[in-house]
Amino acid sequence: MKIFLDSANVTEVKEAASWGILSGVTTNPTLAAKEGRDFKTNIKDISALVDGPVSAEVIATARDEMVSEAHELVRISDNVVIKIPVCLEGLAATKTLKEEGIHVNMTLVFSVNQAILAARAGAAFVSPFLGRLDDIGTDGLERLSEMVETFRNYDFSTEIIAASIRSPEHVVQAAQIGANIATVPFKVIEQMVKHPLTDLGMERFLADWAALQAQLVADGVNDMETAPKA
Ligand code: G3P
Repeated sequence: MKIFLDSANVTEVKEAASWGILSGVTTNPTLAAKEGRDFKTNIKDISALVDGPVSAEVIATARDEMVSEAHELVRISDNVVIKIPVCLEGLAATKTLKEEGIHVNMTLVFSVNQAILAARAGAAFVSPFLGRLDDIGTDGLERLSEMVETFRNYDFSTEIIAASIRSPEHVVQAAQIGANIATVPFKVIEQMVKHPLTDLGMERFLADWAALQAQLVADGVNDMETAPKA
Protein backbone atom coordinates (compact mmCIF):
# COMPACT_ATOMS: atom_id res chain seq x y z
CA MET A 1 0.00 0.00 0.00
CA LYS A 2 1.28 3.45 -0.91
CA ILE A 3 1.39 6.18 1.74
CA PHE A 4 0.27 9.72 0.93
CA LEU A 5 0.54 12.60 3.39
CA ASP A 6 -2.78 14.28 4.18
CA SER A 7 -1.54 17.82 4.76
CA ALA A 8 -1.17 21.23 3.16
CA ASN A 9 1.80 22.16 5.35
CA VAL A 10 5.05 22.57 3.41
CA THR A 11 7.26 21.81 6.43
CA GLU A 12 5.41 18.54 7.06
CA VAL A 13 5.59 17.57 3.38
CA LYS A 14 9.33 18.30 3.28
CA GLU A 15 9.99 16.27 6.42
CA ALA A 16 7.81 13.29 5.38
CA ALA A 17 9.42 13.30 1.90
CA SER A 18 12.84 13.06 3.55
CA TRP A 19 11.77 9.76 5.21
CA GLY A 20 11.48 8.07 1.82
CA ILE A 21 7.97 6.75 2.45
CA LEU A 22 5.91 9.29 0.58
CA SER A 23 4.17 8.52 -2.72
CA GLY A 24 1.89 11.58 -2.85
CA VAL A 25 0.05 14.30 -0.94
CA THR A 26 -3.63 15.14 -0.49
CA THR A 27 -4.96 18.52 0.54
CA ASN A 28 -8.47 19.83 1.06
CA PRO A 29 -9.89 23.34 1.54
CA THR A 30 -9.87 22.97 5.35
CA LEU A 31 -6.21 21.92 5.41
CA ALA A 32 -5.35 24.71 2.95
CA ALA A 33 -7.19 27.31 5.07
CA LYS A 34 -5.10 26.32 8.12
CA GLU A 35 -1.95 27.42 6.29
CA GLY A 36 -3.18 31.00 5.69
CA ARG A 37 -1.21 31.21 2.41
CA ASP A 38 -2.15 31.74 -1.21
CA PHE A 39 -3.50 28.33 -2.25
CA LYS A 40 -1.79 28.10 -5.64
CA THR A 41 1.59 29.15 -4.22
CA ASN A 42 1.19 26.56 -1.48
CA ILE A 43 0.34 23.79 -3.97
CA LYS A 44 3.29 24.84 -6.14
CA ASP A 45 5.68 24.56 -3.17
CA ILE A 46 4.25 21.17 -2.15
CA SER A 47 4.35 19.80 -5.71
CA ALA A 48 8.04 20.62 -5.99
CA LEU A 49 8.79 18.50 -2.90
CA VAL A 50 6.94 15.33 -3.90
CA ASP A 51 7.58 12.77 -6.59
CA GLY A 52 3.92 11.74 -6.94
CA PRO A 53 0.38 13.07 -7.20
CA VAL A 54 -0.62 16.15 -5.19
CA SER A 55 -4.39 16.56 -4.85
CA ALA A 56 -5.76 20.11 -5.03
CA GLU A 57 -9.51 20.53 -4.57
CA VAL A 58 -11.87 22.69 -6.61
CA ILE A 59 -14.27 25.04 -4.82
CA ALA A 60 -16.79 25.42 -7.64
CA THR A 61 -20.02 23.42 -7.48
CA ALA A 62 -21.08 23.57 -11.16
CA ARG A 63 -19.42 21.35 -13.77
CA ASP A 64 -18.14 24.09 -16.11
CA GLU A 65 -16.63 26.09 -13.24
CA MET A 66 -15.10 22.92 -11.78
CA VAL A 67 -13.45 22.21 -15.13
CA SER A 68 -12.16 25.81 -15.48
CA GLU A 69 -10.76 25.72 -11.94
CA ALA A 70 -9.15 22.36 -12.70
CA HIS A 71 -7.49 23.83 -15.79
CA GLU A 72 -5.93 26.58 -13.64
CA LEU A 73 -4.78 24.12 -10.98
CA VAL A 74 -3.10 21.67 -13.37
CA ARG A 75 -1.04 24.55 -14.77
CA ILE A 76 0.70 24.80 -11.37
CA SER A 77 2.63 21.56 -11.81
CA ASP A 78 2.61 18.29 -13.78
CA ASN A 79 1.86 16.24 -10.66
CA VAL A 80 -1.29 18.11 -9.60
CA VAL A 81 -4.39 15.91 -9.42
CA ILE A 82 -7.82 17.54 -9.23
CA LYS A 83 -9.93 16.71 -6.19
CA ILE A 84 -13.67 16.91 -6.84
CA PRO A 85 -16.49 16.05 -4.42
CA VAL A 86 -18.68 13.16 -5.57
CA CYS A 87 -21.98 14.65 -6.81
CA LEU A 88 -23.71 14.76 -10.22
CA GLU A 89 -21.93 17.96 -11.30
CA GLY A 90 -18.65 16.49 -10.06
CA LEU A 91 -19.19 13.32 -12.10
CA ALA A 92 -19.79 15.40 -15.24
CA ALA A 93 -16.65 17.45 -14.59
CA THR A 94 -14.68 14.25 -13.98
CA LYS A 95 -15.84 12.79 -17.30
CA THR A 96 -14.68 15.93 -19.15
CA LEU A 97 -11.34 16.07 -17.34
CA LYS A 98 -10.72 12.34 -17.91
CA GLU A 99 -11.28 12.89 -21.65
CA GLU A 100 -8.68 15.67 -21.49
CA GLY A 101 -6.19 13.38 -19.76
CA ILE A 102 -6.45 15.16 -16.39
CA HIS A 103 -6.43 12.94 -13.30
CA VAL A 104 -9.26 13.35 -10.79
CA ASN A 105 -9.47 12.24 -7.17
CA MET A 106 -13.19 12.02 -6.25
CA THR A 107 -13.52 12.95 -2.61
CA LEU A 108 -16.09 12.90 0.20
CA VAL A 109 -16.93 9.32 -0.76
CA PHE A 110 -19.01 7.53 1.87
CA SER A 111 -20.78 4.71 0.01
CA VAL A 112 -19.98 1.93 -2.43
CA ASN A 113 -22.44 3.41 -4.92
CA GLN A 114 -20.60 6.75 -4.87
CA ALA A 115 -17.33 4.90 -5.45
CA ILE A 116 -18.78 2.93 -8.39
CA LEU A 117 -20.10 6.10 -10.03
CA ALA A 118 -16.78 7.90 -9.52
CA ALA A 119 -14.92 5.00 -11.15
CA ARG A 120 -17.35 4.84 -14.08
CA ALA A 121 -17.01 8.61 -14.65
CA GLY A 122 -13.26 8.11 -15.00
CA ALA A 123 -11.78 9.13 -11.65
CA ALA A 124 -8.16 8.05 -11.25
CA PHE A 125 -8.69 7.90 -7.45
CA VAL A 126 -11.61 7.69 -5.03
CA SER A 127 -11.28 8.80 -1.42
CA PRO A 128 -13.56 7.09 1.10
CA PHE A 129 -13.45 8.95 4.45
CA LEU A 130 -13.05 6.29 7.16
CA GLY A 131 -12.91 8.51 10.23
CA ARG A 132 -15.97 10.54 9.30
CA LEU A 133 -17.99 7.35 8.79
CA ASP A 134 -16.86 6.16 12.23
CA ASP A 135 -17.87 9.60 13.62
CA ILE A 136 -21.51 8.97 12.71
CA GLY A 137 -21.52 5.49 14.22
CA THR A 138 -21.03 3.48 11.02
CA ASP A 139 -18.03 1.29 10.20
CA GLY A 140 -15.70 3.10 7.80
CA LEU A 141 -13.48 0.04 7.40
CA GLU A 142 -16.49 -2.11 6.45
CA ARG A 143 -17.38 0.37 3.65
CA LEU A 144 -13.74 0.39 2.52
CA SER A 145 -13.69 -3.39 2.41
CA GLU A 146 -16.87 -3.45 0.29
CA MET A 147 -15.36 -0.91 -2.13
CA VAL A 148 -12.13 -2.89 -2.52
CA GLU A 149 -14.08 -6.10 -3.17
CA THR A 150 -16.38 -4.38 -5.68
CA PHE A 151 -13.50 -2.78 -7.60
CA ARG A 152 -11.73 -6.16 -7.74
CA ASN A 153 -14.86 -7.83 -9.17
CA TYR A 154 -14.73 -5.51 -12.16
CA ASP A 155 -11.00 -4.88 -12.37
CA PHE A 156 -11.54 -1.10 -12.12
CA SER A 157 -8.32 0.85 -12.66
CA THR A 158 -9.43 3.57 -10.21
CA GLU A 159 -7.22 3.50 -7.10
CA ILE A 160 -8.82 3.60 -3.66
CA ILE A 161 -7.33 6.10 -1.21
CA ALA A 162 -8.28 5.34 2.40
CA ALA A 163 -8.79 8.88 3.74
CA SER A 164 -9.84 10.56 6.98
CA ILE A 165 -7.38 8.26 8.73
CA ARG A 166 -7.30 8.94 12.46
CA SER A 167 -4.95 6.29 13.91
CA PRO A 168 -2.13 3.85 13.07
CA GLU A 169 -4.68 1.04 13.45
CA HIS A 170 -6.73 2.56 10.62
CA VAL A 171 -3.62 2.29 8.40
CA VAL A 172 -3.06 -1.38 9.30
CA GLN A 173 -6.69 -2.23 8.62
CA ALA A 174 -6.71 -0.31 5.32
CA ALA A 175 -3.60 -2.25 4.24
CA GLN A 176 -5.10 -5.60 5.22
CA ILE A 177 -8.30 -4.80 3.37
CA GLY A 178 -6.23 -3.98 0.29
CA ALA A 179 -6.67 -0.22 -0.22
CA ASN A 180 -4.21 0.97 -2.89
CA ILE A 181 -3.23 4.02 -0.87
CA ALA A 182 -3.71 5.46 2.62
CA THR A 183 -3.51 9.22 2.99
CA VAL A 184 -2.26 9.79 6.51
CA PRO A 185 -1.91 12.90 8.71
CA PHE A 186 1.68 13.76 9.73
CA LYS A 187 1.04 12.98 13.41
CA VAL A 188 -0.28 9.51 12.56
CA ILE A 189 2.78 8.70 10.40
CA GLU A 190 4.95 9.66 13.40
CA GLN A 191 2.86 7.31 15.57
CA MET A 192 3.21 4.49 13.00
CA VAL A 193 6.97 4.27 13.46
CA LYS A 194 6.82 4.21 17.25
CA HIS A 195 7.01 1.06 19.38
CA PRO A 196 7.98 1.02 23.07
CA LEU A 197 10.21 -2.04 22.52
CA THR A 198 12.11 -0.19 19.76
CA ASP A 199 12.69 2.77 22.11
CA LEU A 200 13.74 0.44 24.94
CA GLY A 201 15.96 -1.58 22.59
CA MET A 202 17.73 1.56 21.34
CA GLU A 203 18.25 2.77 24.91
CA ARG A 204 19.76 -0.58 25.90
CA PHE A 205 22.04 -0.78 22.84
CA LEU A 206 23.35 2.74 23.51
CA ALA A 207 23.82 2.04 27.22
CA ASP A 208 25.70 -1.22 26.50
CA TRP A 209 27.86 0.54 23.91
CA ALA A 210 28.65 3.36 26.35
CA ALA A 211 29.55 0.77 29.01
CA LEU A 212 31.94 -0.92 26.56
CA GLN A 213 33.62 2.41 25.76
CA ALA A 214 34.02 3.18 29.46
CA GLN A 215 35.50 -0.30 30.01
CA LEU A 216 37.98 0.14 27.13
CA VAL A 217 39.08 3.52 28.45
CA ALA A 218 39.51 1.98 31.90
CA ASP A 219 41.55 -0.87 30.36
CA GLY A 220 43.67 1.65 28.41
CA VAL A 221 42.63 0.20 25.02
CA ASN A 222 43.02 2.56 22.03
CA ASP A 223 39.75 3.48 20.24
CA MET A 224 41.24 2.37 16.88
CA GLU A 225 41.48 -1.21 18.11
CA THR A 226 37.68 -1.37 18.28
CA ALA A 227 37.06 0.53 15.01
CA PRO A 228 35.62 -1.61 12.18
CA LYS A 229 38.31 -2.83 9.72
CA ALA A 230 38.17 -1.06 6.36
O1 G3P B 1 -8.26 13.11 3.32
C1 G3P B 1 -9.42 13.58 3.92
C2 G3P B 1 -9.13 14.15 5.25
O2 G3P B 1 -8.40 15.32 5.10
C3 G3P B 1 -10.32 14.36 6.09
O3 G3P B 1 -9.90 14.01 7.35
O4 G3P B 1 -9.97 13.92 9.79
O5 G3P B 1 -10.99 15.87 8.57
O6 G3P B 1 -12.07 13.64 8.52
P1 G3P B 1 -10.79 14.38 8.63
